[in-house]
Amino acid sequence: MKALQVRIRKVRKGDVDRIVDIERSWHHLSHWSIDSYYRLLNDDSFTSSFVAEIEDEHGRLHIVGFVIFHIAADISEIYNIAVESRTARSGIGKQLMAAAIDESERRHARKVVLEVRKSNNPAINFYLGFDFRIAGERRNYYSNPVEDAYVMELDISD
Ligand SMILES: CC(C)(COP(=O)(O)OP(=O)(O)OC[C@H]1O[C@@H](n2cnc3c(N)ncnc32)[C@H](O)[C@@H]1OP(=O)(O)O)[C@@H](O)C(=O)NCCC(=O)NCCS
Repeated sequence: MKALQVRIRKVRKGDVDRIVDIERSWHHLSHWSIDSYYRLLNDDSFTSSFVAEIEDEHGRLHIVGFVIFHIAADISEIYNIAVESRTARSGIGKQLMAAAIDESERRHARKVVLEVRKSNNPAINFYLGFDFRIAGERRNYYSNPVEDAYVMELDISD
């Protein structure tokens, strides 16, 4: 699926349930608790987030993806990014990540960092496409199931 009209906007508090649904549309992946989403998305001073919306044939907007990130000093950390599984691979994730990187540059971050499960090849490939590099590993970083993480970084300092 290609060429969907996508609009990226800042998250609103009422979006949390939809965000949780999108994350859970990936049945085989482990999930954040609903509480973690409420906590992060209700803390305006702490975290930045964007959602992606598409318009249906009746002109109604539907949230189909999100990116949650946090900028502190000169580091921007991506906490989570997901696109509804039905609309995956249509360029929505790319637009969300581009928006997060733009915002990180605008707020003078020097690098964007994230962790990813070593087995999450689609996501690793997605990040490599933005020129993220594998900068390290964290042993047993994830639970449920326990797994190591790659730490990935993108230099945005110039
Ligand atoms: C990772 C994710 C956000 C990508 O979003 P998306 O909208 O499907 O990605 P895009 O369509 O913008 O793809 C951009 C590029 O990423 C790479 N990519 C995306 N999905 C891929 C897959 N399943 N396998 C291999 N490469 C993939 C490709 O290079 C793709 O470009 P192409 O389609 O022109 O080949 C999405 O797969 C997702 O929500 N996954 C589940 C949640 C998750 O794992 N999040 C990461 C947590 S660390």
